[in-house]
Amino acid sequence: MAKRIQFSQTGGPEVLEYADVTPEEPKSGEVRVKNHAVGLNFIDIYFRTGLYPAPGLPSGLGTEGAGVVDAVGEGVTHLKEGDRVAYAQGPLGAYAEHHVLPADKVVKLPEGIEFETAAASMLKGLTVQYLLRQTYRLQKGETILFHAAAGGVGSIACQWAKALGVKLIGTVSSQEKADLAMKNGAWATIDYTKENVVERVRELTKGDMVPVVYDSVGKDTWETSLDCLQKRGLMVSFGNASGPVENVNIGILNQKGALYVTRPSLNGYADTRKRLEAMSAELFEMLESGKVKVDIAQRYPLEKAGEAQEALASRKTTGSTVLLPAMQETQAVQDTEQSNDVSESQETQAAQEGKASQDQDSQA
Ligand SMILES: NC(=O)c1ccc[n+]([C@@H]2O[C@H](COP(=O)([O-])OP(=O)(O)OC[C@H]3O[C@@H](n4cnc5c(N)ncnc54)[C@H](OP(=O)(O)O)[C@@H]3O)[C@@H](O)[C@H]2O)c1
Repeated sequence: MAKRIQFSQTGGPEVLEYADVTPEEPKSGEVRVKNHAVGLNFIDIYFRTGLYPAPGLPSGLGTEGAGVVDAVGEGVTHLKEGDRVAYAQGPLGAYAEHHVLPADKVVKLPEGIEFETAAASMLKGLTVQYLLRQTYRLQKGETILFHAAAGGVGSIACQWAKALGVKLIGTVSSQEKADLAMKNGAWATIDYTKENVVERVRELTKGDMVPVVYDSVGKDTWETSLDCLQKRGLMVSFGNASGPVENVNIGILNQKGALYVTRPSLNGYADTRKRLEAMSAELFEMLESGKVKVDIAQRYPLEKAGEAQEALASRKTTGSTVLLPAMQETQAVQDTEQSNDVSESQETQAAQEGKASQDQDSQA
C-alpha cells in the first residue's frame, strides 16, 4: 500500500483525505514515478474547491512533482527505471507517494538539480518561461507589470526578468513581500493594498505605461491592469487568485486603447513532448546557472496538504511550497513551526483522472 491525498467531494481543506491506495501499474505509454517531492500550486485549490471540475470523484490532486521512475509501461523509449525525473502536467494525483502519468509529460532531471528544487519550480518555472519568452517575448530594457511578485511564480519571474535586463514592477501586499521581490530582482514594487497602482505605474514609467501586464490575481486587478497598459498593449491574464474574471464586455479593450488580451496556460504551450523538452531545457539552464534560485519557503509532509493549501490561499506563503512524502509527522510539526516562523519573520519579512485533467492547466 502507499499513501495519497484524495478528495471525494469539493470544499475546504477538510475534504482532503490521506488515503491508503495500491500503486497503479503504468499502462502503455505511461510511467510510474516514486515522488521525492511534490509542488503545491494555486490550481490545486481551484480543483479542490470545484472552480475547476475534477474528471471524477474520488480524485487525486496535484500535477507537479519530482522523483525516480520505478515502473515503465510498454512502448516508452525515452525513460527507464531509475531515471531521475520531474513533471508539471498530466492527470491529477501528484500529491502521492507514487504517481502514474503519460511518459510524454515527464522529463529527465539534470544531476545538478535536486528533487525539491524541481518540484518547486517545474510548473511555476515553465509558466514563467512561456510568459516571458513566448506569450510576450520580452526585450532588454522594457518595463513590465507583474502581479503577486513575491509568490511562487512571481519570485521566479522577478529573477528571470532581471536576467533578461527587463525592469519588472511587482505588486505585493506587504512591505515584507516588497523586500523579497526586490531581493529577487524586481526593479520596483507597488503595494496594491495601499497604493494607487495606475498612478504609481505612470510615475515609474514617466507616463509611458507598460507594454505588457502579467496578471494572475484575476477579478480584483483586471481593470487596473488594463489601465496600466500602453496603447495596443497586451494583457496576459493567467490566473484567478482573487476569483475569475467574468462578464467582460470586449468593447473595454477599444475604450482603453486598442488593447490585446490573452488567457494562456502551460498546457497551451507545452503541448508536445518536443516543446516541453525545449521549455524545460531553458528552465534547467536558468536553474543550473544560478540566474534563478528557487526559494522553497515552506515545506510540509504530504499528509498536511490541507494546511499547506490554507496557507497559500490566505496569502501567508512566499516563494514556493513543497509537500514531502517521506517527511515524518514529528519532524513535520517542528518544520511547520519553523516555516511559520519564517513567514512571520518574512512578514516583518485521468487514467480516470487523465484526459480532463490534462486540460486542467488550460484553465490554470
Ligand atoms: N495559467 C497558467 O499556466 C498558470 C500556471 C501557474 C500558475 N498560475 C497562476 O499563477 C498564480 C500564482 O500561482 P502560485 O501557485 O505561484 O501562487 P502564489 O503566487 O504563491 O500565491 C498567490 C498570491 O496571489 C496574491 N493574491 C492576490 N489576491 C489574492 C487573493 N484574493 N487570495 C489569495 N491570493 C491573492 C497573493 O500575493 P500578495 O499577498 O502579494 O497579493 C498570493 O500570495 C495563481 O493565480 C495561479 O493560478 C497560472
